[in-house]
Amino acid sequence: MIENRKLEHIKICADKDVNSHHNYWNDVVLKHETIPKVDMENVELSVEFLGKKLNYPIIIDAMTGGHKVAKLINENLAAAAEELGIGMAVGSQRAAIENTKLEDTYSVVAKYDMPLRIGNLGAPQFALGYGEEEVKKAIEMIDAHAIDIHFNYLQEAIQPEGDTKVGNLRENLAELARKYKLIAKETGAGISRNAAEFFKNAGFKAIDVSGVSGTSFAAVEYYRGGEEGKLFWDWGLPAPYCILSLKDLNMPLIGSGGIRNGLDAAKAIALGADVVGIARILLKPAMKSKEDVIKVLERIIKELRIAVFLIGAESVKELKNAKYVVRGELAQWLRHC
Ligand code: FNR
Repeated sequence: MIENRKLEHIKICADKDVNSHHNYWNDVVLKHETIPKVDMENVELSVEFLGKKLNYPIIIDAMTGGHKVAKLINENLAAAAEELGIGMAVGSQRAAIENTKLEDTYSVVAKYDMPLRIGNLGAPQFALGYGEEEVKKAIEMIDAHAIDIHFNYLQEAIQPEGDTKVGNLRENLAELARKYKLIAKETGAGISRNAAEFFKNAGFKAIDVSGVSGTSFAAVEYYRGGEEGKLFWDWGLPAPYCILSLKDLNMPLIGSGGIRNGLDAAKAIALGADVVGIARILLKPAMKSKEDVIKVLERIIKELRIAVFLIGAESVKELKNAKYVVRGELAQWLRHC
């Protein structure tokens, strides 16, 4: 059942237009600096994130597992993450927790020596009985350094078979956050300020904002028969708005949702993210080969280097001080921050 759903999600995300109708990254403009600070080749792109050194401020964000096609995708993504020295998250591990025969579709990533390997479980399951045992299994399955807890209530609400219970979710997660390295993650509708304050107080170690601008899970579920997905297609908080509204919490932030190129990545970091998370644009390349994934990521890295150079910074760290202009609809959002 879950296995079929995983394949459907992959097919829909690869073949259909499931993007949000709004790309809020276009509403952020970085200010040009006429005389760069250092030679472009000397721009430093490595960062430290959650105590790990990444060669580039990039995490391949959570997508899949639980099907043999997903195993190939995870292996190609993991091999690329190892070669480039960046982080990677697997998709929801629920399929393998419910059917251990599917474990290898996730554990394949543990063969690869990437600096940051992230597991993934869905928050709604923690309202329905998941607890410490499942978190432990998810960590062991892929030898994870941290675990994403993804909040996907928009998707669950549209999905015909969705889990929309909330129950004692907060209490359950707060207990786990004291013991394990948890990352609070959305899946395209954005982490709100209220939720982020809860995550910080509960002891979560980072937030992956996954806001509106890229993949819409309302759209994905619309193609699976969730009629309301059409109405809620663009529901959620813009990805750049999430970063701006959460940065003063001083929690490590993954800027994600619609990152398509190195300029979007530079914008996310200039607004306050520490690293970016990239998902759907890597899906089709990952269905082919590790080399195809690396090709896309190398393009993004090159574009990021150009952006850092042109704003007059010598490193990703300095990119955080970049000057920018916010325009259009995003500017309206900021009036209601
Ligand atoms: C996802 N995403 C996701 N997130 C998560 O936490 N657990 C998951 O199992 C999945 N599954 C999944 C499958 C596919 C095919 C895609 C494209 C995405 C969400 C993903 O990690 C990310 O938050 C959003 O897709 C927004 O980023 P992009 O796609 O706009 O770069």
